[in-house]
Amino acid sequence: MSDLKNFFSDQLISSGPRLSSNADVASIILNRNESPYDIPKLFKEKVISTLLQKQWNAYPKADNSGIELLLATFMDLVPETVVVADGAAALITSLINYFAINKFRVIVPSPSFSLYDYHCKTFGISFEKWALSADLEYSMTLFPGGKEKALVIIGSPNNPTGNVIPHELLEELLLTHPNHVFLVDEVYHEFSDVSYTDLILKHSNLILVRSFSKSFSAAGVRLGYAVCNELMATQLRKLILSFSLNHFTIAFASTILSEPGYKEINRTILSRIISERQKMFQQLQQLSETKHFDINYSHGNFHLLRFRSREGWERCMEAFRSKGIVVLDVSKTPQLENCIRISIGSPESNELVIRVISDL
Ligand SMILES: Cc1ncc(COP(=O)(O)O)c(C=O)c1O
Repeated sequence: MSDLKNFFSDQLISSGPRLSSNADVASIILNRNESPYDIPKLFKEKVISTLLQKQWNAYPKADNSGIELLLATFMDLVPETVVVADGAAALITSLINYFAINKFRVIVPSPSFSLYDYHCKTFGISFEKWALSADLEYSMTLFPGGKEKALVIIGSPNNPTGNVIPHELLEELLLTHPNHVFLVDEVYHEFSDVSYTDLILKHSNLILVRSFSKSFSAAGVRLGYAVCNELMATQLRKLILSFSLNHFTIAFASTILSEPGYKEINRTILSRIISERQKMFQQLQQLSETKHFDINYSHGNFHLLRFRSREGWERCMEAFRSKGIVVLDVSKTPQLENCIRISIGSPESNELVIRVISDL
């Protein structure tokens, strides 16, 4: 029998799975930043009826321009600037692969979404970190870019810290680093009031990556998209694996995006989640002194709490566990010692979270 080490790197062999399964472990799942509201049954039925009409023995359409047009109209974007894919993660990892193979430096923010690190490590791609400042903000002084070609990933709103990159800082980077491609992972952008769409028209080295997994309540559908300059978009389309949007994703997009009622429902869901976030933020701020933790304002659908001691962190994790609430332990991430990320859930789950913390 051949030794696996002949085929796979030590790094890959020693890595565990990036995500653990949530199945049956608890009744309240607040570790995935999913929407607490499912797509209404009426819309699901319409999607299924479209899906039933598809020929499953046939490949889906090779060209996604129909979906890109619908999506652009729904989002008020120029159709030629939109590139669809089977989730933001698929787009991001394909772009990391493409640019790394082509000898670009790969720069990822830290702390940030664990996929960037994990993907580079498991695929053997060398990467550098752009550390956030002590108060977990993007800082030009700490930016490791230079003259060479680079792919720079920016999470904004950044997961799990909840901060955004200021518009002026992004524009300054775009202007001063024309040899760098800036990929802004914006899957939480609907929850924030910061927009970079205007920069697409002015800068050809900017790619915004978005998703239907968060505010659109469709994580299970696997639909993501990039928005960038038309010429860049033409190249990105060639990097998306053919037929990666399956019949279900296409049926979802073609049905839901042309349903006038969906936009309205989506707006309502979004404003509910934002108002829950604001309410919880105030409640958590009030509790922070007596319960010994710190909290920064989050522009996403989650909060990040930093306990001032390991004991405080342990007590809180144990209290959540005992109530069947799953939150994300990010405490092993550099700069996030004693931190816990909690997704905004239904009003009832959020109330329970506040009660658990009040009772610590
Ligand atoms: C920052 C960030 N980017 C991308 C993704 C994945 O998005 P998608 O479900 O569209 O692949 C996530 C999921 O949690 C995320 O937090």
